[in-house]
Amino acid sequence: MAADAVIDRAAAAFAPALIAWQQRHGRHDLPWQNTRDPYAVWLSEIMLQQTQVATVMPYYRRFLERFPTVAALASATEDEVLALWSGLGYYSRGRNLHRAAGIIVAGHGGRFPGTLEALMALPGIGRSTAAAIFVFAFGGRAAILDGNVKRVLARLRGIEGYPGETAVAARLWRDAEALLPRENLVAYTQGLMDLGATVCTRRKPRCSGCPVSSLCVALATDRVSALPTPKPRKALPQRRTMMLVLQRAGEILLEKRPPAGIWGGLWCFPEEEADADPVAACLRRYGAKVTPGMMLPVVAHGFTHFRLDILPQTAMIKSWPQRAEEPGCLWISPEDALQAALPAPVRGIVERLIVLGKTA
Ligand code: ADE
Repeated sequence: MAADAVIDRAAAAFAPALIAWQQRHGRHDLPWQNTRDPYAVWLSEIMLQQTQVATVMPYYRRFLERFPTVAALASATEDEVLALWSGLGYYSRGRNLHRAAGIIVAGHGGRFPGTLEALMALPGIGRSTAAAIFVFAFGGRAAILDGNVKRVLARLRGIEGYPGETAVAARLWRDAEALLPRENLVAYTQGLMDLGATVCTRRKPRCSGCPVSSLCVALATDRVSALPTPKPRKALPQRRTMMLVLQRAGEILLEKRPPAGIWGGLWCFPEEEADADPVAACLRRYGAKVTPGMMLPVVAHGFTHFRLDILPQTAMIKSWPQRAEEPGCLWISPEDALQAALPAPVRGIVERLIVLGKTA
């Protein structure tokens, strides 16, 4: 069978399996279910943006009690609305709700508009929220694609790429629309929400209890935990530095760093430019003569604002002038050094030296 046909069969099987599961195992008693009042549905969908059901419940009840109709909301002040929103977060949602109520009263005669386009024209209503209101309040047919549904579909279809990227989002929207059944849109849409919230969760999804696990590309290809692809981390600047691992009579040289700045006050190997000549550097810094030894493996270290590759360059002291003994400079055995305040990568280098010393 051609690959396309397999995919189409999976797409055709998805909605019936999801609807049957929603009817048996989904949520049926949430306060905003079992109503077709567009105002109540709209309020719930706005409150449920980026907020969990359990958090929303008491706010939803209080809000509906205080503002039972869109007209009541429109005639309130923004302060009153925001006071009731207080603690729910993302306050632009509350401000947009109030503004939209004003538009519905002034521009639509107090009646909620019943088309996707008109819903999306209201402040705070994006494509997915408009679709949810259209389905739940108007019995319409449209695809939702909120964060949870993006996760469900990325896994179901094995879609790679961060869903925040335009091309990935476009692919997910295409799939969301292609999967829509002809009927039973309420159970289907609620099923998608329920599956994302209770089974196909971000961490620890319960694939064994999933009604569409046999259709899931991520499960079949062992990519459930890898999908959806997380937001790409911003590339951090990469820097390189040489650390001089100077050795004399079984001891190493550490220097105390200035109190402010990176690794402030910690004990470190002396640092040079990554391409420095260690012999010239030791002569310049200490008036010391050294024989360069081996380079230890590069140590990669991540800071919040940059990455650092540390090139540890060993060198044996041939002569060390007395004047080089300054406060803040310490000759110490590698074992004793481990008791000192060392940055993690310096500690790693010291530990490696100890291992090398034991095997040398
Ligand atoms: N999340 C967004 N809309 C929802 C709804 N209607 N029910 C449950 N969770 C939701």
